[in-house]
Amino acid sequence: MARNHEPGSNRVLRTFRREHRLLVRALREWDRKLSAVSVAEVGEEAVVGILEGLKQLIEMSLRPHCARERKALVPVLRHHGLEGMARELAREDRALARECRQLRRALARIRRWSPQAACAVGIRVGERVIARLIEHIHREEADIFPRLEGR
Ligand SMILES: [Fe+2]
Ligand SMILES: [Fe+2]
Repeated sequence: MARNHEPGSNRVLRTFRREHRLLVRALREWDRKLSAVSVAEVGEEAVVGILEGLKQLIEMSLRPHCARERKALVPVLRHHGLEGMARELAREDRALARECRQLRRALARIRRWSPQAACAVGIRVGERVIARLIEHIHREEADIFPRLEGR
């Protein structure tokens, strides 16, 4: 089929999938950095730097991506009666805000508490947040996008 006859949603989905690949790659990179500092005896600045970087990735890339996704896909999902999936996309901004809050709290604890224990907690929070975000992206690819293909 010629590109210009391709349904609009396919083109949009292709863009989102490309963004997913970049986001997952960036998330895995931060995950790798977190595992590296969890085995090494590094200073708290290294852990803080990673958690700050992760928070920035969520705020600057992931949240805008999900906002664009919501704007483009929620009306299509609703139009096709896929209300549950539309709600899932609508819920995600709150979930992303929650992840950011957890990272912010972990960073504040590192500054307040005895650094070593707080760093260990911060690393765990970071790893959990990354796992959730990757799972979110995979769920979109596995459940939501296939329902919109060709529509
Ligand atoms: Fe999303
Ligand atoms: Fe997405």
